[in-house]
Amino acid sequence: MKLLSLTTLLAATATAYASLQIGFPTNGASFRQGEKSHVQVVRPGAIEDCTEVGIVIDVVHCGKTCPKPGKHAGYALYKGPFKPTHQKIGGDYENFTVTFPESLKTGKALLTLTNKCRREGESQPSLEYTTAEIKITERVHAL
Ligand SMILES: *[C@@H]1O[C@H](CO)[C@@H](O)[C@H](O)[C@H]1NC(C)=O
Repeated sequence: MKLLSLTTLLAATATAYASLQIGFPTNGASFRQGEKSHVQVVRPGAIEDCTEVGIVIDVVHCGKTCPKPGKHAGYALYKGPFKPTHQKIGGDYENFTVTFPESLKTGKALLTLTNKCRREGESQPSLEYTTAEIKITERVHAL
């Protein structure tokens, strides 16, 4: 019981800390090599102390285990500013058009959203990582 409550607490803390969320794709989503799709980046609420400097969306193939975010050289799918607009449904978000590389290996892959965040009183921007585990399947070759 004790363990359970600690886990729940940690999960709650982690959720509260991440300023941005990946609305799409969710864990388990499947894409083909070379497929064009989009990544939905959501800002769930007002962030009092974070000034966004920019975001990076990247994807990396997972071997037995997925590499830790920030510790791998994946394929950058998007790099630049995050300017969410307010939508009636879904709140504040922005959809980014991305193309999964043809050379990305099939199998499990980790999609990482890196949020560069500047906080008052800190000289260096801090980095926040949000991830989704996706699946890459073989490209369909045209006949
Ligand atoms: C953004 O993506 C979401 C989820 O994939 C979709 O439901 C929504 O219609 C898209 N919004 C816009 C403005 O394209």
